[in-house]
Amino acid sequence: MIDSTQTLSDFRLLTRTGVSRTSVSRTSAFKSTLAIAVAAASLSMAAGANAATWKMALGDAAGGTQYELGKTFASLVEEKSGGDIKVDLFPNGQLGSEQDTVNNASMGLVDLSVVAINNLTPFSPTVGVLTLPYVIHGPDDAKALTQGKIGDELRENTLRDSGIRILGWAYSGCRRLTNSKQAVASPADLEGMVIRVPKNEIMISSYQSWGVNPNPLAWSETFTALQQGVVDGQDNPYITIDAMKFYEVQNHVTDSCYVFSMEPLIMGEGTFQSLSEENQQLVLAAGEEATSHSYDYLLATEDSIKKSLVEEHGMTITQPANDEQEWITKASSIWPDFYASIGGRDKLVEVLETLGRDPSTAP
Ligand code: MLT
Repeated sequence: MIDSTQTLSDFRLLTRTGVSRTSVSRTSAFKSTLAIAVAAASLSMAAGANAATWKMALGDAAGGTQYELGKTFASLVEEKSGGDIKVDLFPNGQLGSEQDTVNNASMGLVDLSVVAINNLTPFSPTVGVLTLPYVIHGPDDAKALTQGKIGDELRENTLRDSGIRILGWAYSGCRRLTNSKQAVASPADLEGMVIRVPKNEIMISSYQSWGVNPNPLAWSETFTALQQGVVDGQDNPYITIDAMKFYEVQNHVTDSCYVFSMEPLIMGEGTFQSLSEENQQLVLAAGEEATSHSYDYLLATEDSIKKSLVEEHGMTITQPANDEQEWITKASSIWPDFYASIGGRDKLVEVLETLGRDPSTAP
């Protein structure tokens, strides 16, 4: 946490005067600001040696997978540091939109954030392989990709591209399409609807493949846009739909699974480098343990939350027609459009092989 007014205003100036979201994604910009970020983070620690209270931004409301990961990480860090380090959670986008908090973490303006992977992709395009439609089929695929060799490589790329260190992952489940108009089983049922999507090129393109012209909106603006009828629908996992109380403004869910939502817990590299070696090891270990808890939490809660959305909150769940085949065929046709950004077709082949699937399905 930055507690020097002087330093904070210097950072605000930097942010306003050109170290923008896009420039942060460039390695050179990252290198030129890392030294300043380290200095700023060190200042925040200086008051009590390694004692600190960190701020963690969460885009979602309390009660979802982001909160569960954050809460677990916070209590592990506090316990492992003997109470020296405390972490305060700020849910509901109080510290800014998810994409803003990525930018702010890289600048040392926020200590920690949990964001959906789709909101990190604009800063480090190779993580886009995790949002390519219909590549990840469920929690085991998500775990295999985030915790193995591919996960290590994506973490390194994110650090290189944006000065963001991934400490752990929340696993939130398949993204399900919700809307306020009618049951949707096939892409044609979306005709005439305005669907909110994250500001993520792959997801925008997925909807376009289904004949929809989506409305890209920040997550922090989504509930209000649904409530006011600016958009008719959106997609997110069951646990997120519940935590965000979307059932108050949406009544139909399609049991689709075009993207599996993974949500990295991130820290700016400047903040990380300002920690003692001991505290660096401590946050890495806490991130790993919290990740493992997140996986168990998803498996333990998703089914009952899905049931409660129907039984307590009156949502209707529609199965995609013909085992989702039309959705899959259309959306998978966009894969080649993103080969350049994810590191080439070979990267997708490696991902499919890691998941035990036929790599020749990559066109
Ligand atoms: C989004 O739709 O922008 C995110 O997936 C929301 C989230 O972080 O849960």
